[in-house]
Amino acid sequence: MGSAGRQAFLDLAIPMKRERKVDMIIVNGENSAAGKGISTKIAKQFLEAGADVITLGDHTYDQREVMGFLNEESRIIRPANFAPGCPGHGFVTVETGAGRVNVVSLIGRVFMNPYDCPFRKADQILAQLPKNIPTFVEIHAEATSEKVAMGHYLAGRVTAVVGTHTHVQTSDNRLLKDHTAYLTDAGMTGSKDSIIGCEKDAVLKRFLTGLPARFEPAKEDCSLEGAIITCESHGGKATAIERVRIPHPAV
Ligand SMILES: [Fe+2]
Repeated sequence: MGSAGRQAFLDLAIPMKRERKVDMIIVNGENSAAGKGISTKIAKQFLEAGADVITLGDHTYDQREVMGFLNEESRIIRPANFAPGCPGHGFVTVETGAGRVNVVSLIGRVFMNPYDCPFRKADQILAQLPKNIPTFVEIHAEATSEKVAMGHYLAGRVTAVVGTHTHVQTSDNRLLKDHTAYLTDAGMTGSKDSIIGCEKDAVLKRFLTGLPARFEPAKEDCSLEGAIITCESHGGKATAIERVRIPHPAV
């Protein structure tokens, strides 16, 4: 989320890849450009620094210039259940230090825009992805119920289902059917002294008056949040999911 979140990701997640022997990093970058989408420059910076796949969400096209890059670069994906013909693609198979891995991006429909059905889209994609390798599914959604439902719908069929979008990390990390790692929301890498990453005064003004207000990403008290998932490289069964929350000392 914003420049503070970008710096925390670069300072904390990338070294963690080496120190914790993490084979790949999936980062949601949809709020990395001042909270509004991602730019081509930022996406390239993340990939060059060590991110393996970048996912997006409802803010995918906020930076219009990124549309061309979404068509060119396979390692940045937007929700697969956007309307047919939207720029970019919704899933990818990448080569990692531990072999090939599938990553799928989906977006929810409860309290959100009217996207295509993420459940049926997941079925369609799984039918065409390479089998017996790890498959990570991100469900970018507002409603906890829709995310939990997606977890159970895909349990036993994928390595992990992890939610994003609310910016608030949940504590329900667990294994579904002893096979599929699940977490309702991975949380946010950005300012904790904020209202879901934005400066508090502007958000409060909008709640109190209903008047338009310009939201800017906050910078104080920044943390990195996410999850580390362990799985078998052949077959893709998850064996553990650990939540991560690390303060970023100074920005
Ligand atoms: Fe979002």
